[in-house]
Amino acid sequence: MDLDGLDPNRMPRHVACVMDGNGRWATKRGLPRTEGHRAGEEALFDAAQGALELGLPWFTVYAFSTENWRRPGDEVRFLLNVIADQLLTRRRDDLHALGVRIRFIGRRDWRVPRWVGRRMDEAAALTAANTAMTLTVAFNYGGRAEIVDAVRSIVAAGVPASKIDERTVARHLYDPTIPDPDLVIRTSGEFRISNFLIWELAYSELVFSDVLWPDFRREHLLEAIREFQARDRRFGNTGRHDGIPS
Ligand code: IPE
Ligand code: IPE
Ligand code: MG
Repeated sequence: MDLDGLDPNRMPRHVACVMDGNGRWATKRGLPRTEGHRAGEEALFDAAQGALELGLPWFTVYAFSTENWRRPGDEVRFLLNVIADQLLTRRRDDLHALGVRIRFIGRRDWRVPRWVGRRMDEAAALTAANTAMTLTVAFNYGGRAEIVDAVRSIVAAGVPASKIDERTVARHLYDPTIPDPDLVIRTSGEFRISNFLIWELAYSELVFSDVLWPDFRREHLLEAIREFQARDRRFGNTGRHDGIPS
């Protein structure tokens, strides 16, 4: 991919996407919302390939939230099929051939059908040794649920209160090996987080795009990274442009 305008020394290590706008994309075309989800899966594959071409080691997508179960049963079933049949079965082999390791974060509770859980395990096992990029799929994921689950696991491990610090919490998240996202992209013009990675994004740069997710392509990823590189990440410290000699 053309890296025009990007600084190779300031690439994000981890980019995470809230893939939003599938329903509106379909409605605008007079199609059922489900068609938007089908098209959204294609956009995800293109964006993942773009991330790979850019050499991003970590790419995470929000595929289904703990709140998405509130949707009509037919739409939920369709979404599960798109994720389990299309992404985790048909695409899985393409992603595997590209050297992508597939991982999951989220709650594996009674609402997740057994066959979907099996597909997730198979995709993760097949691709476990791949090293080109890690694609983490947030499925039945909620940031608050993740923090609650971390607290439960800390208590279950018998860690004394005085020994709990931020690193303890981080170690008990769904996948402690994933670095915090440097950049979080949300599509479809909504300015909210919707319970995505709320612990991990404490210092992430947020980029909001008007593009509806099914229209999202690797070029949009590039654009978001360009915006990311123009930001001054201060992490509470003084900035690069404050004139104070370092
Ligand atoms: C994102 O698109 C997909 C999921 C949330 C699973 P939406 O289905 O939320 O699309 P809009 O926001 O209704 O347009
Ligand atoms: C966030 O999108 C969840 C996913 C992209 C999976 P939603 O469409 O569910 O978020 P809200 O309801 O607009 O906040
Ligand atoms: Mg939405």
